[in-house]
Amino acid sequence: MLDTRLTQRFGLTHLVLNAPMALVAGGALAAAVSRAGGLGLIGGGYAGTLGAEPDLALEFERAAGAKVGVGFITWALARAPAQLDVALALKPACIFLSFGDARPFAARIHAAGVPLICQVQTLAQVESALAAGAFVIVAQGTEAGGHGGARGSFSLIPEVVDHLAARAPNVFLLAAGGSRMAEGSQRR
Ligand SMILES: Cc1cc2nc3c(=O)[nH]c(=O)nc-3n(C[C@H](O)[C@H](O)[C@H](O)COP(=O)(O)O)c2cc1C
Repeated sequence: MLDTRLTQRFGLTHLVLNAPMALVAGGALAAAVSRAGGLGLIGGGYAGTLGAEPDLALEFERAAGAKVGVGFITWALARAPAQLDVALALKPACIFLSFGDARPFAARIHAAGVPLICQVQTLAQVESALAAGAFVIVAQGTEAGGHGGARGSFSLIPEVVDHLAARAPNVFLLAAGGSRMAEGSQRR
């Protein structure tokens, strides 16, 4: 069992987060992950902008009280920013933002007292995630399950480890690029 700042902050017994995956990771899956000791995330996807996104209230009902987070595709959330309020009203364990600039949403997330997790694909995006006040950064290599960037995990993850160690050692790092997110650096 790994005991890290992340497990302590979220009260986890297993350092496993499921990726928020719209229409794949709903309330039932997220709740199962959380109940097993990890941190479950519901995929909020394109925040309703494609018309086929999950009903977050229904997915939280399916989670039946388990502490779960919500992850949005950030550029889509920018087109439907009210979806963030819908998610925050459901008292998520965290908000996870991927593929875009999290900064415009950060103030509302912090004001709600909800930890912000930012998924990044480049070092430049690490800087913008830090400016957004990310509590956790997920470095996503191109081997990841979907919507990835161009850089492979093998070089991206150690570079982000070094960058955070120098710039923001208290920010936690996870790596995505397999069937689950794994810890990139337990303690820097
Ligand atoms: C079917 C599918 C749906 C996704 N939906 C979301 C989403 O709703 N929100 C989000 O932040 N990321 C979404 N993603 C991106 C995942 O967060 C990303 O691919 C992650 O790296 C997967 O982790 P893994 O490759 O380590 O399994 C989705 C990915 C897939 C494959």
